[in-house]
Amino acid sequence: MTDLIKLRGVDKYYGDYHALRDINLTIRAGEFFSLLGPSGCGKTTLLRVIAGFEGVSGGTVMISDKDMADVPPNQRPTNMVFQSYAIFPHLSVGENVAFGLRKSGLNKADKASAVEEALSMVGLAGYGKRAAHALSGGQRQRVALARALILKPKVLLLDEPLSALDKKMREHMQVELIRLQRAVGITFILVTHDQEEALVMSDRIAVMFAGEIGQLDDPETLYRRPNSRRVAEFIGKMNFLPGRVTATGDTITLDIAGFGVTDVPAVQAPEGATLGEAAIGIRPETLAILFDGEKASRHEAAAVVDEVVYYGDMTYYDVRVNNVPEPLTIAMKNMIGRPVLDVGAQTRIAWDERAIVVF
Ligand SMILES: Nc1ncnc2c1ncn2[C@@H]1O[C@H](COP(=O)(O)OP(=O)(O)OP(=O)(O)O)[C@@H](O)[C@H]1O
Ligand SMILES: [Mg+2]
Repeated sequence: MTDLIKLRGVDKYYGDYHALRDINLTIRAGEFFSLLGPSGCGKTTLLRVIAGFEGVSGGTVMISDKDMADVPPNQRPTNMVFQSYAIFPHLSVGENVAFGLRKSGLNKADKASAVEEALSMVGLAGYGKRAAHALSGGQRQRVALARALILKPKVLLLDEPLSALDKKMREHMQVELIRLQRAVGITFILVTHDQEEALVMSDRIAVMFAGEIGQLDDPETLYRRPNSRRVAEFIGKMNFLPGRVTATGDTITLDIAGFGVTDVPAVQAPEGATLGEAAIGIRPETLAILFDGEKASRHEAAAVVDEVVYYGDMTYYDVRVNNVPEPLTIAMKNMIGRPVLDVGAQTRIAWDERAIVVF
């Protein structure tokens, strides 16, 4: 994939407030890229800087190797679907979509066919004459998308496009958006604060905190090898145990509270390991409750169930293990014949040193 958007040393101040801090970022043509981070971390600001609605205070924004410094938003190959997408309720669906073409100089017939094409892209073929207020939330969202797609931008900037939808509709639209992006081949930059949405949809994700990019990786690397505790905590859930690094090199030797001594390869310390105290991260689904007679394939420890949260498909247990200061959360898939343990039950748990992340 070729590089399409390059941000180099981008800073953005609102008055004294430093909203973007030295952002260096390359987005490739045809990529589904997400900006993920907590509220106020600068996601919308970064999108607006790419679209040209905000100037930068320092650094450069290049699109297709052209410096965008003096290029206004309507002359950039980008189009944005806003966080609070505004469709006009008093217009028809078709008029809403055609709104994007008002300055295009196309004749009526060409406009009409462009509208129909954009509507069919988002699965709303034949809805052109419908009043926009007579649509569901998900359909309205698709009208906003069609309005942005009709200009055939190289880059579509999507600012939390699904956040107003309920869970079912959101999941449906996630799949539709992925399909749409593959079909049209446009570069998508999606802003979201929903980590699951970012994991499901993206080729790569930039995790932002307080105006900075904390980590940029593909979903699996982000999840399996977070480079800091804050990334690990923002994406999914992670248990942290106190431990010590007693040897470094290609193999790291760890002494983990309650779990004892184990060796892991150096890649399991994404930021490198130094001798002395370390935090040991373990995801809930990489631990397991051992039900009667089951044996751990690697290591096991005795535990007492402290809390049980039943989700239908999953049960989340908090368990206490001797010498581990905090309860550990374990995610277990519910299966036929597998009981749900009660609080206070004595059990054993399995752990696997291959799932450890050293911080
Ligand atoms: N026009 C502005 N003037 C001053 N401060 C602003 C302006 N726009 C945004 N900010 C501040 O910059 C920071 C980043 O805002 P931004 O809208 O980019 O956050 P965000 O990551 O999109 O958050 P959310 O998830 O809540 O939409 C916030 O602290 C915000 O208050
Ligand atoms: Mg925002």
